[in-house]
Amino acid sequence: MNLMYRNFKVDRARAQSSHDQGTQPRQSQVNNLDQHTEKNRLLILGDVFLPEAQQIKMSLESPFVFNLEGPITKTNKGCLGKIILKADESFIRETFGLYPLAVSLANNHIMDYGEEGLEDTLRVLKQNGVSFFGAGSLTQNCHNPLVLDVHGTKTAFMGYVSETASGVFATNAAAGVMPPDLQRIKKDIAIAKSQGAVFIVVMLHWGAEEVFLPSEDDIKTAHQIVDAGADMIAGSHAHCIQAYEVYQGKHIFYGLGNFITPDLNARIISVSAEEKKFIKKQMFWNRYSLAADIGMMDQSVRIRRFYYHVKKGFAVEAPTHITRYALKAGHLTSYGKKFRISYVCGKIRRMAVDFMYHPRVPTARNFKNVFSFLSRGNR
Ligand SMILES: [Fe+2]
Repeated sequence: MNLMYRNFKVDRARAQSSHDQGTQPRQSQVNNLDQHTEKNRLLILGDVFLPEAQQIKMSLESPFVFNLEGPITKTNKGCLGKIILKADESFIRETFGLYPLAVSLANNHIMDYGEEGLEDTLRVLKQNGVSFFGAGSLTQNCHNPLVLDVHGTKTAFMGYVSETASGVFATNAAAGVMPPDLQRIKKDIAIAKSQGAVFIVVMLHWGAEEVFLPSEDDIKTAHQIVDAGADMIAGSHAHCIQAYEVYQGKHIFYGLGNFITPDLNARIISVSAEEKKFIKKQMFWNRYSLAADIGMMDQSVRIRRFYYHVKKGFAVEAPTHITRYALKAGHLTSYGKKFRISYVCGKIRRMAVDFMYHPRVPTARNFKNVFSFLSRGNR
């Protein structure tokens, strides 16, 4: 493996004990990261799903954070009626050569194997000194915010899942994730600031899958979150790179894309316990991702692009003119039409690919889906 890695010297013990507190309202976790670590940078990557080990054929010398798309658990008691993902064991170390500084658990798959799956995941992360945020019980405020001392800059991470991404939300009775409610985010930012955070990263799991542009509503929400005090928004879930923009001097990544997500061979268990397979072939647009490479001294942002070779099982840097991904929204009213075209194209493109790789007689549900995509496009 062509991977250079180093020990980030994170105070893992403090991270774990902070996670174990389970205080109410949430007490942020505070770590210390050696100030002399490589170039004083922090890397925020897109979605990572590791049912088996992959390889990173590049230098990842900075501490990094990513969205962990699914639990790490051996349980087979999956949620009924949805596509369920999991890794039987952690392949993070085998893939990256080291563990990330933290992972976001705010996504639509972390609860696929219920609270048992979440607890197993938290145990594995704690055992390996990985901090986490974005899922848990309400008394834990879903582990938001997480505050870490990154190269001397107290940095807050918090994660939320939009309702359109079908998150399993925490209730008084059960753990889960949190929706991106603006008032909730404002409170979490205030908690983070009270913990001394001066750089605030909000990770949002949202956006229409397979669509290259964010909706007008997502743009408005992102701007409100920046106005509320966020220094960066890192979105994910769309399985492709969505546009990015700089608003009020802050970077908004609407969708970083899949950093590593192999072809899917997932389970769907019906209410009657009948089990089906969900197969998804990752196309080239599902294999590129952006990453925010942040200089913690001045919070400058370098945008990088990566490519994940699905068949070969490794990820590499894929430099390009990044401005090609810059959002050209113009006036939001006229942007709406652009988004709707992108939406219809993205959805139909995915259906066409699925039929090409798995030819079958279209069902009534397929026609219903096409109709719903087209009607959304005409709105
Ligand atoms: Fe997702």
